[in-house]
Amino acid sequence: MKHFLEVGNLSKAEFEYVLQLSSYLHETSEEPLHQKTILFCFEKPSLRTRVGTEVAINQLGGKVIHIDPIAFLGGKILHAKPIEGHDERESLKDTVLNVSQWCDAIFVRVFDHHTLLKLCQHSEIPIINALSDTHHPMQALADFLTIKQKYGEEKVPISFIGDANNVAKSLIEAGIMLGYPMGFSGPEEYGWSNEILQKFNNLCEEYEGSFTSYSSAKEAATHSRVLYADTFVSMGEEDVYDEKLKSFSDFQINESLMSLCLNDAAFMHCLPAHRGIEVTNGVMDSAQSLIYEQAKNRMVVSKGLFSFLIEKKGEIAEESIKQNEILI
Ligand code: CP
Ligand code: NVA
Repeated sequence: MKHFLEVGNLSKAEFEYVLQLSSYLHETSEEPLHQKTILFCFEKPSLRTRVGTEVAINQLGGKVIHIDPIAFLGGKILHAKPIEGHDERESLKDTVLNVSQWCDAIFVRVFDHHTLLKLCQHSEIPIINALSDTHHPMQALADFLTIKQKYGEEKVPISFIGDANNVAKSLIEAGIMLGYPMGFSGPEEYGWSNEILQKFNNLCEEYEGSFTSYSSAKEAATHSRVLYADTFVSMGEEDVYDEKLKSFSDFQINESLMSLCLNDAAFMHCLPAHRGIEVTNGVMDSAQSLIYEQAKNRMVVSKGLFSFLIEKKGEIAEESIKQNEILI
């Protein structure tokens, strides 16, 4: 059994296989999730991850049950009179082992990545990260499906402009693993820790991709075919909103920045976007923008990922992919 908490939980071959399987399943009426039930639990708001994935599971014949995070992740609440030393309804271990008896996977968005690690300690079914403070691996799957659909197998240089956050980390990790030249530019005070930089370097040694930190957004743009943005202030960081916005004033993606890019450049954003802040309306709505393709692909990659993790994908699909030479 495999969990998917971060990009590195899939090998390069598995990551590429999930992209292929996703494209295949999206074009067929096969229902590999027939009679499968996935529990959804979201500690933070979500549109694309929640709706896109639920549609994908429905289309593959599966069912989704939503559970309140207080009920699932343990609220300190539920006794009319507090019992000393027993302020939780039950242990996370008991909750997860119960759910493992009924469901086939748990899809969960959390404030703290450690919550996912705790779930994995006890779960008998796959735990799938729907975004944590440190990783957003399903976004990276959708992003690389989108990039491959636009550029084929060409390893175009991609730069993330902005905050060294969950989305950026998963994008860079996946990019290096798949062989892309990955770049980054953002304010130093919100940059990568040495530990994360070491991780990127280790990935560069293991795979064919590369990682470059650029000293400005302009420098990054002149080396890139894809510029990628995310919000400057992530969910859970609202109390540092003003402070962060000041630091990011030189990192907006606008028409003038896009004009510095290499030929046939594209703009990407995981969304939700704050139009006029990290990106202008002009770029969001331009012909270069891939934002709605990315959003659509959030649904498409859920098909391959859940089928792969729950069903070990089904050899029938694998065989069909080989026979029809399904390409992205
Ligand atoms: N990109 C993304 O994860 O969007 P949601 O927060 O709406 O799910
Ligand atoms: N970095 C953002 C991504 C939202 C999809 C956040 O964590 O809020």
